[in-house]
Amino acid sequence: MSTHLATFDDWVAAFRSWQEDIGLDRRHLERFTFDTKYGDLASDEIAFGDFTGARRWESVRQIPDQRMRDAVLNYIVYQGDTEFASVEQQHHLYDIAPSTYDFQCLTRVMAEEMRHGYQMCHLLVTHFGHAGRLEADKLLQRRAYHHQRLLGSFNEDITTWLDFFTFTQFVDRDGKYQLRMLSHSAFAPLARSMGPMLKEESFHLGVGYDGLRRVIQAGRVPIALMQKFFNKWVPTAYDLFGSDHSGSAHWGYVWGLKGRYDEETCAAPADRERLNETARELYMVEIRALTARLNRLIPAEQPRLYLPDMTFHRRIGAYAGEPYSVTGERLQPEAYAAYLTDVLPQPADLACLAALTQTPDWLTPKQAMA
Ligand SMILES: [Fe+2]
Ligand SMILES: [Fe+2]
Repeated sequence: MSTHLATFDDWVAAFRSWQEDIGLDRRHLERFTFDTKYGDLASDEIAFGDFTGARRWESVRQIPDQRMRDAVLNYIVYQGDTEFASVEQQHHLYDIAPSTYDFQCLTRVMAEEMRHGYQMCHLLVTHFGHAGRLEADKLLQRRAYHHQRLLGSFNEDITTWLDFFTFTQFVDRDGKYQLRMLSHSAFAPLARSMGPMLKEESFHLGVGYDGLRRVIQAGRVPIALMQKFFNKWVPTAYDLFGSDHSGSAHWGYVWGLKGRYDEETCAAPADRERLNETARELYMVEIRALTARLNRLIPAEQPRLYLPDMTFHRRIGAYAGEPYSVTGERLQPEAYAAYLTDVLPQPADLACLAALTQTPDWLTPKQAMA
């Protein structure tokens, strides 16, 4: 395969065509300039794995082995894919934004996701030669709405603002974990990309949590309906941590390319056989606490929100495709399809939500940003 992209300027032109092709309204982006941002690293030394103590690699040439170079390229491709996919999923929400404030938040989130994709493609095009240009080109060719994106969460539909808040709360929060793990990378340009991306990402998480808070406090959307959106998105976020006993996570660690979430503070040696599980467990502690915080806002007579069990509706790992309930009981395989229609959002739920959200009082108001 070959690509027509020869330089990063060529890629930028392709990026503009992608915006047009997906139907993004570019007028909303006028205040944003897309740029690369590289932060400072706390240390130039590799902090974990077999190359601990050596200098981080500034160029692909310095990475000692082809398999390692391929692994870095892969991390960048997967990260970039999520960034463009989320814009494909989200931009239709412009038409149904509940307020100017929400419109502004959506604009900023999408602009920053595009910047993250831009950053990843800058790495690919400037460091990885022909293979990098080819992948940067492909990142603009897959489409979430044709289910071609690389990870499950990013092929699902976001058709409502409740999807958006639940997505940014849980799926963008997975992103925070991935970015932190890559911030420790031995490949210095990748590690340097992560600080500015993490800073921007924290705004997205805030939009998610705060959106859910506002919906609860307005008291109009039934908690049972919100729960269905948790059931839809949280299992996809669990999947994003990858399979258990992952060989690629093992090698990514041994080669110093992707660290643990808490690499700089965790004194214990890494359990290299359970890297994905360990990251997912930390994530679950965080989202459990945030869900408990939201539950404190729900009036006593109403149900509480909860996180679906680890086993429910998984597409990756030991429970992939297995018929488990949201509370982790194993179901009869024949009963599973009907069960899913009870616990996941259905057309009737979407119609109910559409009716509820016709008036802006379904979430508490916020002042537009200056
Ligand atoms: Fe992002
Ligand atoms: Fe994000």
